[in-house]
Amino acid sequence: MNIILLGPPGAGKGTQAQRLVDGRAMRQLSTGDMLRAAVKAGTPVGLKAKAVMERGELVSDEIVSELIDAELATMGPAVGAIFDGYPRTGEQVSALDEILARHGRRLDRVIELEVDEDALVDRITGRFTCANCGEGYHDRYKLPRQPGTCDKCGSTEFKRRPDDNEQTVRTRMAEYRAKTQPILPDYERRGIVARVDGMADMDSVSSAIEQALG
Ligand code: AP5
Repeated sequence: MNIILLGPPGAGKGTQAQRLVDGRAMRQLSTGDMLRAAVKAGTPVGLKAKAVMERGELVSDEIVSELIDAELATMGPAVGAIFDGYPRTGEQVSALDEILARHGRRLDRVIELEVDEDALVDRITGRFTCANCGEGYHDRYKLPRQPGTCDKCGSTEFKRRPDDNEQTVRTRMAEYRAKTQPILPDYERRGIVARVDGMADMDSVSSAIEQALG
């Protein structure tokens, strides 16, 4: 199964993608994570993307589509893809269609996480992750069970994203409204969109997604 998780910054795409991967033959393909890894490694892609990401704007369509293509090329046919944060523009929708066809895959479902934008600023500015394994936490909604220690790997190092400040989050949301929301009607015409209430608690969102996937 190949699915897209769609929603504005902080909607819970990454959280739900990680949950879907657990116990399934699926892989999370997060263009945001790939770009952050490229920035950290100082690759040519990372050097191009760094300032754009810090402003909260979108990186070029070619760069992100090439990242997705390269990642799919490493996956066996039995492993499904969860697209997290991709596609985000009409050009990326066309590129994904072409890439999927080339890899002998088809798109099964687009899950749109419906959320309240003001609540998202609070979600994003409270977010942090384990510096070792990437497990996600939140200052109020999900703290480590033992303070200061990652539940998953035991690391005591955590980090916050440089673009998780209110000003950049507002730009990221404006980018979503202007460039990403308009891609939905295309997928609606294909009859593959399912809407899920992203403001519910994490377990309820997961159950609703499971139901939508059938
Ligand atoms: P990206 O990394 O994709 O960021 P984003 O879309 O802004 O989404 P986030 O990762 O912020 O949010 P999320 O929906 O995954 O929420 P999460 O699960 O973490 O992109 C970053 C940048 O890279 C972009 O701005 C752009 O520059 C570039 N980029 C990436 N892809 C691109 C593309 N295709 N084209 C061009 N440029 C691209 O949840 C947020 C917080 O809320 C967490 O703390 C979580 O614990 C908590 N939470 C989650 N669900 C719930 C819930 N139900 N209740 C309470 N809390 C919850």
